[in-house]
Amino acid sequence: MALWGGRFEDTVSELTQEFGASLPVDRQLYRQDIAGSCAHAAMLAAQGIISAEDAEAIRGGLEAIQADIDAGTFAFDINDEDIHMAIESELTRRIGAAGGRLHTGRSRNDQVATDTRLAAKALAKSLMEGNLALRHALVDAAEAAGDTILPGMTHLQHAQPVLFAHHLLAYAWMFARDFTRLKAAFDAADASPLGAAALAGTTYPLDRRMTADTLGFSRVIENSLDAVSDRDFLLDLEYACSVMAVHLSRLSEEIVLWSSQEFGFITLSDAFSTGSSIMPQKKNPDFAELIRGKTGRVVGDLVQLLVTVKGLPLAYNKDLQEDKESALDAAHTLEQCLTVMCGMVDTWTVNADRMRAVMHRGHLAATDVADYLAKRGMPFRQAHEVVGKLVLAAEHAGCDISELPVSTFREASELFGDDVVGAFDLDAIVAARTTQGGTAPAAVADQMEKVKAGLVADEAAVEALSPVVEMGTGTRSVL
Ligand code: ARG
Repeated sequence: MALWGGRFEDTVSELTQEFGASLPVDRQLYRQDIAGSCAHAAMLAAQGIISAEDAEAIRGGLEAIQADIDAGTFAFDINDEDIHMAIESELTRRIGAAGGRLHTGRSRNDQVATDTRLAAKALAKSLMEGNLALRHALVDAAEAAGDTILPGMTHLQHAQPVLFAHHLLAYAWMFARDFTRLKAAFDAADASPLGAAALAGTTYPLDRRMTADTLGFSRVIENSLDAVSDRDFLLDLEYACSVMAVHLSRLSEEIVLWSSQEFGFITLSDAFSTGSSIMPQKKNPDFAELIRGKTGRVVGDLVQLLVTVKGLPLAYNKDLQEDKESALDAAHTLEQCLTVMCGMVDTWTVNADRMRAVMHRGHLAATDVADYLAKRGMPFRQAHEVVGKLVLAAEHAGCDISELPVSTFREASELFGDDVVGAFDLDAIVAARTTQGGTAPAAVADQMEKVKAGLVADEAAVEALSPVVEMGTGTRSVL
């Protein structure tokens, strides 16, 4: 039933009732809504605005409603426009007049902003935890890889050999930056709008600091108009999700390539692959493809909200009701993607021999052969030219540059000695790149220490987050 019936002579039509409703989406916020109402009622009583008995009845009633929703036994009424009305009208049905006092000094505008911020904090925190789990999986995989080398690529062409651990740690750094973005989104959401009321504040002596503290918000939003109309914190969350989804998508693309017959660098476990209904031999990297595919949804979610808030005048506009679906979708999609990616990385088999075998046809030593000449006095540009010709000769001969006879090298430049074969040693090529951030085992070990230190710091950052109201699972839809 509508809670604003007094001013209206007619009820809304079934069509507009359904069109205007947000309950199918915002019921996922029932725990946040109940936490917000309990905090508000306790504050009203502390300020002498309602009686202690009423506040107690409200708390008891709301807790019972939460237990019912948690258990999946709460009968949502499709005539309730949103989760706020659904809970408040059921509360009043259960406890009578006290339920009608809950909304004193409050509007659904500050109520929904409060619920959404609490949800954003919970979602950001669980994404931070998923992010940490994936970074741990990458570190474990990098450690397990030891000195395994693979052809490092540029333009998807063989470039120079690199440690597989080095390649995996590049992703660990990308996800470390994503953590920073998630933390920023958490901090943006961590401010209480409660007490802003509809837009202008209220005439009741509310204690905004008290409700903020009860709900675990670090601060109170200073401007009531901003409090009810700001959705930047959701944009921040969806942007953090989008960049992380793009990173997951890039890793997924590598997994798709690496697990193909052409590459064969890894074999996915059966649990993270699928077969074909017609081709008995197939083992497909469906889940990597799905993560890559879901990235489009997550980025679309961000764009949806950006476009929704563009051009909105202050303060609350009903357009803002369209803010939650995309944010919830982005966060839930990302959470699943992170879990599936962890599983893939944890259970893949690395085919180190295959990685090494394919390196015999990519002239991966070419740069080091040019460096060999440059280190003996030839200008690097000239050395590049000489080695380019040798690569061409190797291509014509159908072999790798390392398979050309030493005499061919000598003909190309008298600076070449018999020791040029040393420049073909792929492990030596890797080991020689000792610059900070380079691929030499010692340099990779150094960055591994830094990646691990980052994990420890970020784990501490999660511990230090202000309290969150966990998302309830009682309304997760089932097929
Ligand atoms: N369901 C609404 C939303 O999600 C709640 C706020 C409604 N406020 C209003 N003035 N109609 O935004």
